[in-house]
Amino acid sequence: MISEETYNIITALRDELAEHNYNYYVLAKPIISDFDFDMKLKELEKLEVEFPKFADPNSPTQRVGSDISKDFEQVEHKYSMLSLSNAYSEEEIKDFDTRVKKIIETDCEYVCELKFDGSSISLTYENGELIRAVTRGDGVKGDDVTTNVRTIKSIPLKLRGNNYPVNFEIRGEIVMPFKAFDELNAELEKAGEQLLANPRNTSAGTLKMKNSKVVASRKLDAYLYYMLGKDLPMDGHFENLQKAKEWGFKISDATKICKNLDEVFAFIKKWDVDRHKLPVATDGVVIKVNSKNLQENLGFTAKSPRWAIAYKFKAESVSTILKSVAYQVGRTGAVTPVANLDAVQIAGTVVKRASLHNADIIQNLDLHIGDTVFVEKGGEIIPKITGVDSIKRHPMFPPVIFIKNCPECKSLLIRKEGESAFYCPNEDGCSPQIKGKMEHFVSRKGMDIDGLGQETVDLLYNEGFVKEITDFFQLEKEQLASLERMGEKSALRILDGLKATIQVPFERVLFSLGIRFVGETVAKILVNKLHTIEKIQTATLEELIDIDEIGEKIAESVVDWFSIEKHLQLIEKLKNYGLQFKIDAKHLEGMTEKLKGLNIIISGTFDTHSRDEFKKMIEKNGGKNVGSISKKTSYLLAGKNIGPSKLEKANKLKITIISENDFLKMLN
Ligand code: IVH
Repeated sequence: MISEETYNIITALRDELAEHNYNYYVLAKPIISDFDFDMKLKELEKLEVEFPKFADPNSPTQRVGSDISKDFEQVEHKYSMLSLSNAYSEEEIKDFDTRVKKIIETDCEYVCELKFDGSSISLTYENGELIRAVTRGDGVKGDDVTTNVRTIKSIPLKLRGNNYPVNFEIRGEIVMPFKAFDELNAELEKAGEQLLANPRNTSAGTLKMKNSKVVASRKLDAYLYYMLGKDLPMDGHFENLQKAKEWGFKISDATKICKNLDEVFAFIKKWDVDRHKLPVATDGVVIKVNSKNLQENLGFTAKSPRWAIAYKFKAESVSTILKSVAYQVGRTGAVTPVANLDAVQIAGTVVKRASLHNADIIQNLDLHIGDTVFVEKGGEIIPKITGVDSIKRHPMFPPVIFIKNCPECKSLLIRKEGESAFYCPNEDGCSPQIKGKMEHFVSRKGMDIDGLGQETVDLLYNEGFVKEITDFFQLEKEQLASLERMGEKSALRILDGLKATIQVPFERVLFSLGIRFVGETVAKILVNKLHTIEKIQTATLEELIDIDEIGEKIAESVVDWFSIEKHLQLIEKLKNYGLQFKIDAKHLEGMTEKLKGLNIIISGTFDTHSRDEFKKMIEKNGGKNVGSISKKTSYLLAGKNIGPSKLEKANKLKITIISENDFLKMLN
């Protein structure tokens, strides 16, 4: 056979098989028998083996996966993968609508979608071909799981038609249908193996399997719900999804445009009932502003878009018996009561424990050991006790009385004014606190030390090799290699990981110190504003509160932490090990004080930059981006379609109104 002819046969077979896949997995309307499909696939496989020069990673034959085990490469997301803020009532959706309208100052359409309960995925397409699939990871970077994702038959490897953007990203949820999950568990049961907890965890676990052949056998599915890129065909998110449907993506038929809140509430009411007929798990409804233009206008907070919200369906509630209450001590010394329950099944998982949060909750519920309690799995993964069936209480059941002493080190617990938690004050002598701090230090969002997880920290602590954070840097290869299930190779990996900590940027170093209320976002704010540990260390309460988004609680915690001599010594030691305690020079580049002392409000839509970009420019140049107009506002940066009420207010308060060009000139 001449080469060109073979090539044509191969591509024709590929196209035909792709079409059958689409009919079967996306439309659920197959037009040939499984047997005929397999015959054609075998024919293609044979040709591809014979003519390896025509190999294509997006050929339908690649959907069967391979036995080659592969570690996942970490890839940075082009656009961060944020999460959604949650609502649990109509009231909260109304508040969301009010917030939206206040910013866009016009009416808008919403798109209602089902909230699929699986694991999120980002797919990148170039010239109509799938080139990369990345998990959410920490939102900034995730694992490249392309090989596994290629095995999911409802995900197009090549797009249909030709009017798709050259380069775009589409995000969605990888799910395991109930049927596939039940079949898998039946197989595991037969083999006497441990059963899987629920479809969501199973889909996430499957996606990260090293053997893509096993992934291929697991019958995962995918629903897509969010398209990103510069050249999307339409302004409407809904309309873009309809295009994506034409290109071969599985878009839920439930997706609907709603013109007002009443239509949104009707959608929620319908799907709260009808979702039980769906083949996959859903846990709510996502409400999105339809226009991309308005979405851009609304922008993002540090964690989620302002243009969308997730309404969570009411949790399923079951009753069971409270057997006992245990107490856990966390890294900050906070003592959390945990209920041990008679095992029950809720929303697809077996529940044996529930968090009781704090002493007040125990008291308000008036809990007694032996009580019949109601348990719910709400927004959080950990179930909670929501009530007691007091009729079933026997008079002999003893009340639950919150402990007075630390369950670990026996110190007398304390309760700070205005706080609901009891604390163990023995910060340096209480094992779970010491271990917790060390685990936090090495964690992925902290110093991210390769090979050092909770288990290894536990072993190192129990062996007496590490007693405080700085001891990590004194570890010897032999000590590490002597640990259970640890070889020389893993030991070297950890030592390399420790050496690499000198490259970790200051904001993560600050986060990993474990100062109360200084999470990722706060650490970033402090570093961007104050630049060096010396400045953070010496900042007064007032100076800290003055920083945008830093409240009294955080400020107090920071001042308290730095007032302890031991903490200052810790920082000195870490400095000696080379960790970074000042902002990266690259970060400082372009930072000026041109807008120092100015409060600027942004409103409308712009041609040259997005609102978020303007916000960043204001902050980089020492100004403050404020949310609402007041006497203190210095400028109103006004774009197109700015609402009349805002303009009127600005005029009344005699606030200078500037255009985007005026603003850019100010920064030249
Ligand atoms: S939109 C910027 N739409 O819910 C956020 N998310 O907490 C874009 N999810 O991580 C997400 N169904 O994994 C969106 N119809 C839907 C969704 C959905 C499920 C998941 C997604 C996301 C999480 C948000």
